[in-house]
Amino acid sequence: MRYGVISDIHSNLEALDAVMALFKKERIQSILCLGDIVGYGPNPNECVDRISGLKKVQSTAGSHDYASVGLKDMTWFNDMAVRALTWTKRKLTEKSRAFLMRLPRLVDGSAFTLAHGSPRDPIDEYLLSSLQFLDNLPYFRTPVSFIGHTHVPAVFYTDSLGVIQNKPLPEGRAVSFDPEGKTIVNVGSVGQPRDGDPRACAVIYDSEKRQVKMVRCAYDIESVQKKMRQASLPLYLIERLGYGR
Ligand SMILES: [Fe+2]
Ligand SMILES: [Fe+2]
Repeated sequence: MRYGVISDIHSNLEALDAVMALFKKERIQSILCLGDIVGYGPNPNECVDRISGLKKVQSTAGSHDYASVGLKDMTWFNDMAVRALTWTKRKLTEKSRAFLMRLPRLVDGSAFTLAHGSPRDPIDEYLLSSLQFLDNLPYFRTPVSFIGHTHVPAVFYTDSLGVIQNKPLPEGRAVSFDPEGKTIVNVGSVGQPRDGDPRACAVIYDSEKRQVKMVRCAYDIESVQKKMRQASLPLYLIERLGYGR
């Protein structure tokens, strides 16, 4: 099966549509979504509709999804995130709210595990270090776990010498993982990348070949920024889309 794995769409419809168009060309059969569908950007309901309207999709909740429907305290977020979340909360339709509230914290599949932050702490943990990777190993049983939340694409695994590897995911090059080992793949962010590349980020996962490949898509950033300005969303959030930081 060829899966398209996405995370941190953050109400950025143009970025999401660009990724979906690429997935169509890549003959993707099913979508795995790791949450933060909303927050920061100008099109929360449209992004929820895109995801909820997919025929084959499995999705977990993200920190912003839960905060926007009152399932997570906003005191955890910085001022700009709170301003965008307050705006999002007002805009969400009943249908979008109901969808976000039903999203699970973790998808514990037979071949893969899905979590927004980490298998250990699905909503909140920013998994960045090799030590955190090690600490997370007892919390999933599958050869691969997909995560997001940091907005930076990366791969964590233990190599044949027993050394933990923590590497950025290369663009466009398939990375194989050990079916006997455990690998964590951070798929980066569709709608607000923070690895210095402003293009939308996603991962293609081939479950038969046991490979993942990071892909990037250019999209109309200026049109998203224009909508954010019209909605009076924080300037910093508007500008960072252009830098991918
Ligand atoms: Fe996020
Ligand atoms: Fe998040």
